[in-house]
Amino acid sequence: EKCGYSHFMLKEIMEQPEAVRKTISPRLVNREIVLEELNDAKELMKNISRIYIVACGSAYHVGMVGKYAWEKLLHIPVEACLASEFRYSEPLLGESSLVIVISQSGETLDSMAALREAKRKGSKVLSIVNVMGSSIARESDYVLYTWAGPEIAVATTKAYTTQMVLLLMLGNYLTKQLNRIEQDEYAAIIRELQSLPEKISVILNNLEHYQKTAANYFNHNSIFYIGRNLDYALGLEGSLKLKEKSLSNIVEVKSRGAEVIALTTELTVNQIGSQASEMFVIPKTHLLLQPVLGVIPLQLFAYYVALNRGCDIDKPRNLAKSVTVE
Ligand code: M6R
Repeated sequence: EKCGYSHFMLKEIMEQPEAVRKTISPRLVNREIVLEELNDAKELMKNISRIYIVACGSAYHVGMVGKYAWEKLLHIPVEACLASEFRYSEPLLGESSLVIVISQSGETLDSMAALREAKRKGSKVLSIVNVMGSSIARESDYVLYTWAGPEIAVATTKAYTTQMVLLLMLGNYLTKQLNRIEQDEYAAIIRELQSLPEKISVILNNLEHYQKTAANYFNHNSIFYIGRNLDYALGLEGSLKLKEKSLSNIVEVKSRGAEVIALTTELTVNQIGSQASEMFVIPKTHLLLQPVLGVIPLQLFAYYVALNRGCDIDKPRNLAKSVTVE
């Protein structure tokens, strides 16, 4: 079942080009994003002045990316909420709020409870789910499936990337339908969406680099991931400023004795390279799609560090694949 891989996690990491392709291609028709599941986007978005993206764990991290991307695309307030907090935080629900629930399993209890609360208070719920016919899928007003296939390892990889790509597609679809995006920008995003599977493969072709880096760092007591929100600024100057800030962060942690592994795109290799001990380089893509590629090196690094440390990779201690109890 592991098809020659030592763990499901690595198998599932390697399946990402295909999982992302299956999630994207049926929804790209003649250079347009087509989401038949929604029938009429204008109907869905009618009266919507606020969006909540609700999820747990990694799916919540996808929601955090969604918040930044969607606010830029749709120009309406978007909040990413942890499902376990959602129903206790008095969200502004009702007809003018749309609630997006993201869940691989479609069975996470907190996400389910948030969905029910949203519907009870009159909001429409659209879910992004991997398991067909799951509870969350059944109770939602609209469902978009990620076509990642079964994910066995507790640590999510291909479900995460497909959730991310689908959420970003949905944001672009809505902004196009609502005429809130320039045609050139939309066309550029479509082109980059099409090339994502290939670019993920490029990263996955270099497993030895992650293997070696992990072997050098696996016995460190702490690893800190440092970064600024998302490099979403569209203007050159804004982008340059963010990069300069990131650079000074690197210099700062280095001067305090830390070693630095930088995750960067081809564009900034030279600037970053001189400051970092190691680099994970991802191919250049549209800014909004960068997180889809950026997560792949982090998955591989985590996998090989865990391997070196002799961890139980597919079933980490005290963790369940989906949390269906409170
Ligand atoms: O099935 P779900 O997407 O609703 O699960 C949510 C979280 O439990 C899940 O993303 C968890 O954080 C991951 N397994 C961690 O890799």
